[in-house]
Amino acid sequence: MKAFLFIVATPILLCLHGTEGQTVVPDDVLTLSTANFDFALQLYNKLKAGGDGKNIFFSPVSISTAFAMLHLGAKGNSRSQLEQVLKLDALSGNNVHKAFKDLHALLNSPATNVTLRSANRLYASNKYESFKDQFFTDASEFFGASVERKDFVGKAEASRQEINGWVEKQTEEKIKDLIPAGGITPATIMVLVNAIYFKGLWQDPFNASYTTEMPFRTGAGRSTNIKMMMIPGKTFPYAESAALKSKAIEIPYKGTVSMVVVVPDDVDGLAALEAKMDVTAANVLLDSLGRTDVNKFYFPQFELKESQYQLKSFLTSMGMTDIFGPNADLSGIGGNPGELQVDEAIHKAFIKVDEQGTEAAAATAITVRLTALTPQIDEFKVDRPFLFFIREKMSGSILFMGRVANPPPVGQPRSNAIRDGTETDDNSSAAILVPSWTLLLVIMWRML
Ligand SMILES: *[C@@H]1O[C@H](CO)[C@@H](O)[C@H](O)[C@H]1NC(C)=O
Ligand SMILES: *[C@@H]1O[C@H](CO)[C@@H](O)[C@H](O)[C@H]1NC(C)=O
Ligand SMILES: *[C@@H]1O[C@H](CO)[C@@H](O)[C@H](O)[C@H]1NC(C)=O
Repeated sequence: MKAFLFIVATPILLCLHGTEGQTVVPDDVLTLSTANFDFALQLYNKLKAGGDGKNIFFSPVSISTAFAMLHLGAKGNSRSQLEQVLKLDALSGNNVHKAFKDLHALLNSPATNVTLRSANRLYASNKYESFKDQFFTDASEFFGASVERKDFVGKAEASRQEINGWVEKQTEEKIKDLIPAGGITPATIMVLVNAIYFKGLWQDPFNASYTTEMPFRTGAGRSTNIKMMMIPGKTFPYAESAALKSKAIEIPYKGTVSMVVVVPDDVDGLAALEAKMDVTAANVLLDSLGRTDVNKFYFPQFELKESQYQLKSFLTSMGMTDIFGPNADLSGIGGNPGELQVDEAIHKAFIKVDEQGTEAAAATAITVRLTALTPQIDEFKVDRPFLFFIREKMSGSILFMGRVANPPPVGQPRSNAIRDGTETDDNSSAAILVPSWTLLLVIMWRML
């Protein structure tokens, strides 16, 4: 047994190859699934750059769903970069959201002996006042995402724990502490979250009495002992690819989900396989899977629970740059272009494979913050002599200036308080001055 690549295929992926007949999958979901797969492979290429010996596990559909929600509120370049990186160009305009809605419905349609659910939620600051109502309406309509108001300013840490608690509940405790300490700050105005959970039983479970300790070859001349499961004498969809120098097998779960495992012929052939793997190569391989009798099928038990990714750097290097900086246009969520930006996108995933089946979970949280934090003060009380200016903001012209040193007490009529254009000699009230050059400017401005 060698290092291998595996894909937990969703029902959609199977339908793409016509191995499942009953459910009619809408065309837009098929297009979206190809887009998601393309995005998944490109993101995988970025994630693997972290080192050859490391395990990788993530949920492409969770990440694209969270970013598709963000897409609802993105405009201009921010929006087109999202479409380009998520490969959504094939779905024009608002069809993107309709496709996600259909996908969401399909993933959450109950099938016997399989648990598959994907849930979305928005956490919005109860202090930020410039949200666009349409964003919430659309998030609910297309993503089934409800909104929960949170006090990110006064209770950042408690809010973080509540969001993590929701994720934990959605994923049957498999994804804990999604948002790390400090991930929510008083500048946070929204967190967009997707959580996905899958539990499937193998159509043909492995018999535990055949599970033995065997070496797993981690590289040329290196190995580590693992628990290897075995199924004797079964028929599997199987393929050999000369182009990829690999072999593939499909292990079905009950229902419409399966795992596809691709194993390179050479012990250290994974890097070469990864280099050649793209949507076309993957589809050719999946299409060539044919029923084959396998006398002994060996497959390792494994559990990956430390997969945690801060996606910002990966997605930025893929071309999703604007949303993470001051050029972000998230004005469909709230405020003006440039007012909001994405702080970070956090992803965490878990998988456990044993004789009975597979349990997998993942979650993605996108934190949106004010580009510049509005500083907070308790109160501002003008209760002493002060200076003031009245200025025209576009030109910066000081139209008026003055000072209040001794305002009239309550109840005293304001007699000759302000005389336009001259300095009062009565210091019981405001002194007001209009610089003559300013008047000239105002007149010129009016004439324009
Ligand atoms: C579902 O699983 C239960 C217990 O594992 C089994 O008795 C039942 O036949 C299964 N149903 C289907 C449709 O596979
Ligand atoms: C597992 O294999 C053992 C040994 O061959 C056999 O006795 C047992 O019945 C098998 N269990 C199942 C559930 O097939
Ligand atoms: C104006 O201010 C001067 C000096 O500050 C003071 O002596 C005078 O009484 C004030 N006049 C009035 C009308 O309050």
